[in-house]
Amino acid sequence: MQKRLKIGIIGCGAIGGQLAKALSQKRPAGVRLAALTDVEADRARRLARRMRPRPAVVSLAGAVKTCDLLVEAAGAQALPDVIAAVLRARKQLLCLSVGAFIKHPEWLELFCRRGVGLHFPSGAITGLDSLKAASAAGLIHRVRLETRKPPAGLAGAPFFRRSKMDPMNLKKPLRIFSGSARQAIRLFPANVNVAAAVALLGIGPDRTRVDIVADPKTRRNTHTLEVTGSFGRFVTVTENVPSAENPKTSMLAAASALAVLLAIGQGNHRGT
Ligand SMILES: NC(=O)c1ccc[n+]([C@@H]2O[C@H](COP(=O)([O-])OP(=O)(O)OC[C@H]3O[C@@H](n4cnc5c(N)ncnc54)[C@H](O)[C@@H]3O)[C@@H](O)[C@H]2O)c1
Repeated sequence: MQKRLKIGIIGCGAIGGQLAKALSQKRPAGVRLAALTDVEADRARRLARRMRPRPAVVSLAGAVKTCDLLVEAAGAQALPDVIAAVLRARKQLLCLSVGAFIKHPEWLELFCRRGVGLHFPSGAITGLDSLKAASAAGLIHRVRLETRKPPAGLAGAPFFRRSKMDPMNLKKPLRIFSGSARQAIRLFPANVNVAAAVALLGIGPDRTRVDIVADPKTRRNTHTLEVTGSFGRFVTVTENVPSAENPKTSMLAAASALAVLLAIGQGNHRGT
């Protein structure tokens, strides 16, 4: 019988929780949820109690030691420790906090050089397959992403420290940011993993244009991706339902991580 890959989830919040529940309910071929870890250990314990079979609640070191593939769903601040641990142990990583790789392109090189599997999910946006294809062939002239979120999904971002604007007071939609993906990722680190994925797969963080709209009239996190080039043009619109646990995060993000794990379990997915 084929060995099932042992999965460890680092961070049991909106994405980690949704993913753990889906793995426990679906019991997909080739993978098994083996461990959970969270800096708030009670959160991991509460989640583990709802799983059958019950995953172990362990430290980061414990998860890396016992699992074959780690899923980072803890946030960018956790990544330096997570990356050091998985590289040392040569364990695969499925990383949700994609934005951090724009600031640290050397991490991508480390995984490549050491031959350790690194996976990124498509996240909360559609169209990345065509973006990747057009980019591979050098056919892209322009990439523009508009991210439109309810104010609660943007509140707390570093951007508001400087602007002094309180998005919760908005009465109508307002374009609060226009600039490069690199700037967007610095000013809205918890909101723009989608911009990071688009930048990494397309024409890079400096040439990818990002607009962020705070919209008190919407309940969806909507990403509009427009790509033009010598191949023609495509536009995708993804209207995401935010996660009940974290309004910054869309439900589709955890679903896309699940899809990667299912593909890995079936032997259909190699490193990103
Ligand atoms: N790739 C995408 O499309 C996409 C989409 C949405 C969110 N994200 C990113 O995924 C990450 C998780 O998002 P979320 O909505 O689940 O966040 P969340 O805040 O709901 O959950 C994060 C969890 O991680 C835990 N945590 C924090 N630091 C930790 C550490 N050092 N070790 C272990 N656990 C730690 C927290 O206690 C919390 O339980 C964020 O970085 C977010 O920006 C990516």
